[in-house]
Amino acid sequence: MTFASATWAEPHLNVVPRTAAEAARIAAATAPTTDFTKPEQFETHPSGAATKFDIRTRDAFSFASANMPFEREMDFKVGNGFFKKLWVTAPSSTVSSDGLGPLYNARACQRCHIKDGRGHPPEGAGDEGVSMFLRLSIPAEQSDLTEETLAYLGAAPEPTYGLQLQDKSIPGIAPEGQMQITYSEVPVTLGDGSVVTLRAPEYDVVDLQSGALHPDVQLSPRIAPQMIGLGLLEAIPAADILAHADPDDADGDGISGRPNMVWNHEFDREMLGRFGLKAGSATIREQSAMAFHADIGLSTSMFPEGYGECTASQTACRAAPDGNTPEQQNLEVSDQVLNLVTFYSRNLAVPARRNLDDPEVLRGKELFYDAGCTSCHTPKFVTDRLNDQAEQSFQLIWPYTDMLLHDMGPGLADNRPEWQANGQEWRTPPLWGIGMTQTVSGHTYFLHDGRARNLLEAILWHGGEAEAARETVRLMTAADRGALIKFLESL
Ligand code: HEC
Ligand code: HEC
Repeated sequence: MTFASATWAEPHLNVVPRTAAEAARIAAATAPTTDFTKPEQFETHPSGAATKFDIRTRDAFSFASANMPFEREMDFKVGNGFFKKLWVTAPSSTVSSDGLGPLYNARACQRCHIKDGRGHPPEGAGDEGVSMFLRLSIPAEQSDLTEETLAYLGAAPEPTYGLQLQDKSIPGIAPEGQMQITYSEVPVTLGDGSVVTLRAPEYDVVDLQSGALHPDVQLSPRIAPQMIGLGLLEAIPAADILAHADPDDADGDGISGRPNMVWNHEFDREMLGRFGLKAGSATIREQSAMAFHADIGLSTSMFPEGYGECTASQTACRAAPDGNTPEQQNLEVSDQVLNLVTFYSRNLAVPARRNLDDPEVLRGKELFYDAGCTSCHTPKFVTDRLNDQAEQSFQLIWPYTDMLLHDMGPGLADNRPEWQANGQEWRTPPLWGIGMTQTVSGHTYFLHDGRARNLLEAILWHGGEAEAARETVRLMTAADRGALIKFLESL
């Protein structure tokens, strides 16, 4: 599907236009550095004035933007409450907490975005693996839906099970099925002769509720990403993201970078996709409403059906009682609650950099630039000047993402298109905070499905447009590889 007239306006932002003088200052401030002898100015502050200092505990991702005005802190706290809230089956005596499911993946946002950090794949039998799920679809040409309907969906739904496999359900309704992962070992020999063994996953669905999946079903496994700095990513001017795009690789560096163009249900128009692992959603508010809808089975003004993601063929599921209540705009989640959760999700602070003047970290930073990692993991942006979002307004940020889609080769492919993204493309994930993963999450599973067990494995999985960068790392001396990893750990 293509949108005929792509306009890249930003209805989600209340922007004060940039002056020419500001634009020139910003260009200078965001130019890639060439001096690796010392840290850059403001490099300690990955999220500008919103950066939170002196937090090296498990709670490191759970603090509010450091520049949040005092009078907004209560909204952040209440939003946090709803992010953690365990929803219950309807009907219940607490109408403001009911409406779960009938089908769902988890009962709370926080169950997947654990400690506001990333999720993980199941660790052995018995681990429920709730912090990841499978998206489903079929090739668009095999769908019975009209082109017009498909234009409002990122992909063509699997006819029985929809766009996502819900592996949990309320009593009386069977869950849709269970994700099954099998790993096989893939040895990679490094330049110095040592061998790293990667694990290549294969996905399947067992215990299916209503018969077989479509023969050409596409399964896309996704780990819940970390929640920090999202409001700042939402406030990067679309024009600055598009300035890094090179869809036809006109500069011949082997790296293209394409924007995703998506339908946005909040503003009922096409917009630049930013959120989700394939940039399938343009705003945090819409991504959150989709999470309520598909992950927890709760209605919002954007997705008002009380039955969540049950398809027309799942009749028992559609007929189950819901929690839509008159006092809540006839919804399970009122706009007030959605707005508080959105405000919370926009304002989780990025922790300050650590050890950035360590000579080994500086050496690793130089190697990161030399290896071409910055072609996708763009170090710096300046956010828009915003009238009503003091925390995100006009900040120099260091997210290490270009917010664009890249072909990462067949090894990482899910072979499931989403809007303009094809089955080999993923959005460059931000690397800020990645060095705190062990502290916050107690693990170091990386990439879209958590297959990498540490940072080196994550790099060695890079293929496609990132193949040259990966080869540079594979062939590095052990000392250089160590320095590169140490730099990543300082982010
Ligand atoms: C079952 C696990 C699960 C639950 C529950 C869940 N999420 Fe997520 N979340 C994910 C996954 C997986 C993604 C990536 C989705 C994609 O690629 O489209 C995601 C992405 C996001 C993003 C975009 C982050 C980014 O970096 O692009 C936001 C914002 C978000 N979730 C908010 C929420 C909110 C708010 C809730 C509760 C209403 C919630 N999530 C509940 C798993 C979950
Ligand atoms: C062509 C663009 C591109 C280049 C070049 C590139 N990356 Fe990536 N990187 C990505 C994408 C896209 C992903 C997500 C892939 C996935 O999840 O399957 C990723 C993921 C990662 C991750 C895991 C992040 C997470 O949150 O799980 C790390 C670490 C990383 N890259 C480091 C590097 C380093 C170091 C280099 C240079 C040697 C590099 N990347 C070069 C695009 C790129």
